[in-house]
Amino acid sequence: MGEELNDCEPESSQSCSSCGPSCGSGSIEEVVKERYGRLWESQRGGSVRSKKASLSSAHDALLKELNPRTGMKVLDIGSGSGETVLRIAEKVGPTGKAVGIDFSPQAIALAKEKAKRRKLEKVTEFRQGNAKELPFSDNTFDAVISECVVCLISDKQRTLNEKVRVLKPGGHVIMHDAVSLAPMPKIVREDQRLYCACIGGAVNRDEYVRMMKEAGLKDVKIVDFSKEGRKMMNTSILAQAIELRREEEFAEIVNFVRNGGVGYALFIGTKEQV
Ligand SMILES: C[S@@+](CC[C@H](N)C(=O)[O-])C[C@H]1O[C@@H](n2cnc3c(N)ncnc32)[C@H](O)[C@@H]1O
Repeated sequence: MGEELNDCEPESSQSCSSCGPSCGSGSIEEVVKERYGRLWESQRGGSVRSKKASLSSAHDALLKELNPRTGMKVLDIGSGSGETVLRIAEKVGPTGKAVGIDFSPQAIALAKEKAKRRKLEKVTEFRQGNAKELPFSDNTFDAVISECVVCLISDKQRTLNEKVRVLKPGGHVIMHDAVSLAPMPKIVREDQRLYCACIGGAVNRDEYVRMMKEAGLKDVKIVDFSKEGRKMMNTSILAQAIELRREEEFAEIVNFVRNGGVGYALFIGTKEQV
């Protein structure tokens, strides 16, 4: 999402109105993995500092909330190029640890390559794994973050439950994600390209909050970034809409965007002390 949103889109549009995002080459999870894998592979051997694949204003706010300091153990889920993990590692070392997990092997290879070049190997750890089944023990981290990832996962509740499980009591989940601001038409929700661009899988703010509470988080706060997020998100939606042939669907999409379309928000929640 954000300034790199278009990089995250597949080379060829697969706007398929007759089937859901799980059609075609396999499950939507496989499609996401493959497409992001290609993006991260294309960045190997490039700049030692990458641009983020998510909204920069929300990223800055997340770091402010996190307030990373010496000794903290932080997990970033869907860590992509590893840029956020490396920024956190610069603050939590030498006694703390910044850990990134991503299901794309290309993301892990890129992040490790950058950690080495920035001499941050000792305070970082990058592991390949799925957000729905985290390879960490209960109560391990002081904070668990994610940036534009939950919207890409179909089983959001399971992902949030996992975040809370590995978080220490009193620790924070801090995440920013795409949010739907109006009822999303089926044609948007079921388009693979829009799904991979963090749009089709977005749910509304109340639904994110409900799932966070269900996972065991309290004092849930929201910071709205829709003003910045909407411009980019809705441009992608409309770009896809003009490729559609059926007038009715086009009108449905335009109405969705007119009513708000997709925005962006930062969510913060705290795990109960035992
Ligand atoms: C939009 S990118 C964001 C990357 C990074 N957080 C950033 O802001 O630059 C989404 C990332 O989530 C990863 N991802 C998506 N679904 C995942 C899952 N179920 N488990 C682990 N990683 C996942 C993708 O491979 C990709 O690297």
